[in-house]
Amino acid sequence: MIQSQQDNQASSPADAENLDEEEIIIEQTLRPQTLADYVGQQTLKNNLNIIIQAAKQRSEVLEHLLFYGPPGLGKTTLAFIVAKEMGSNIKVTSGPAIERAGDLASLLTNLSEGDVLFIDEIHRLNKAVEEVLYPAMEDHVLDIVLGKGPGARSIRMELPRFTLVGATTRIGLISSPLRDRFGATYRLEYYPEEDLQKIIDRNSLILNAKIDGPAAAELSRRSRFTPRIANRLLKRVRDFAQVKGYDTIALETARQALELLEIDGLGLDKNDRRVLETLVHKFSGRAVGLNTLAAATGEEEDTITDIHEPFLIRLGLIAKTPKGRVATEAAYKHLGITPPDAPTGQKTLI
Ligand SMILES: Nc1ncnc2c1ncn2[C@@H]1O[C@H](COP(=O)(O)OP(=O)(O)OP(=O)(O)O)[C@@H](O)[C@H]1O
Ligand SMILES: [Mg+2]
Repeated sequence: MIQSQQDNQASSPADAENLDEEEIIIEQTLRPQTLADYVGQQTLKNNLNIIIQAAKQRSEVLEHLLFYGPPGLGKTTLAFIVAKEMGSNIKVTSGPAIERAGDLASLLTNLSEGDVLFIDEIHRLNKAVEEVLYPAMEDHVLDIVLGKGPGARSIRMELPRFTLVGATTRIGLISSPLRDRFGATYRLEYYPEEDLQKIIDRNSLILNAKIDGPAAAELSRRSRFTPRIANRLLKRVRDFAQVKGYDTIALETARQALELLEIDGLGLDKNDRRVLETLVHKFSGRAVGLNTLAAATGEEEDTITDIHEPFLIRLGLIAKTPKGRVATEAAYKHLGITPPDAPTGQKTLI
């Protein structure tokens, strides 16, 4: 499953799973194409800009780069921007798509000098594939074993110089030999509201949806600190306003649309709330291990660790302890429930 592109128009495999065709097209139109258009992540952008400019000035191939952080913060977008800024072609694949060492070998031998090879979900590469990747990253060579048993021999093939860009939501699952072979590793941070508002303002122009300041602020507040969610909410609110016959999205319209989407005042959707309510109701505030929480909520463990947990921790609604996850007092407050050790009769309201 290899896509080859020159025009920054692809979406990551992870995106493709969750979106229908029309949404993918919209998502592509909203994706910034240059570093200048990429909102926020200022420190990361400054560092990336230096490494790109330095490589260009020396007419060298860019070093291997690794981007990590929660879903929807812009890792895939950056991979495409890097290729574009370097004036390179990008080939896109993902960890689970490269099943055998041979799959990677054919990918690598089809690269041209200076190409960017983007491997999404790079933490899901298997060991045999990783072994092939090490010498390719380090010395730009491919070691191929011919034959089997005592007669087997190994030949070494020169590869064109290329840049590997890896992306992952799970840096902890990347082996240290692989991690060490990246020239630079960048962590993407959650976005502050003002950056999300800039993204919403820019994209409302692209989508031709008029939105006023307070409504845009409300959407950015409820976007889980995540550009992908900001874009998704903007699109849904735009639909709502259109169907209701409003030509500008005002605060009240945005609030009504968000209510219909079951997004609450802090931006929690119903799945986030289910995680929180499970901790509060089923376990009465006790610390809960990941597998127990997954079973009790009916969610995949990965979904909890990648999507719900970082966001709920960031909001201070859950905390991680050595014994597991616990709901904080703020969680009880948010759900309008009295915390277990609070004096009775003092029900906290939202
Ligand atoms: N800094 C940014 N400025 C403007 N828009 C952004 C920015 N970062 C992300 N986006 C928007 O958010 C969408 C999601 O970003 P992207 O697909 O790059 O996230 P990701 O980190 O690769 O997520 P995943 O881990 O799920 O693959 C993009 O289509 C883009 O429109
Ligand atoms: Mg991605």
